[in-house]
Amino acid sequence: MNQQKIIDGLKSVCLCKGIKKKAFLEHVEKGVNTVHGLKKATGAGSGSCQGKRCTPRIEEILK
Ligand code: FES
Repeated sequence: MNQQKIIDGLKSVCLCKGIKKKAFLEHVEKGVNTVHGLKKATGAGSGSCQGKRCTPRIEEILK
């Protein structure tokens, strides 16, 4: 894994729950390919904003 990929993986996707991009990518590698699936697998979207901030970022990861 190159350095840029490691740094990218440390970026917060779900700010409310403090979930990093790396956690989402691990589930994508295991075959999770929907926003709902990633939210369920990581716990994202259940914070105080109810996914308003992280949902667009999760969609971006899946593109
Ligand atoms: S940023 Fe994910 S629930 Fe608020």
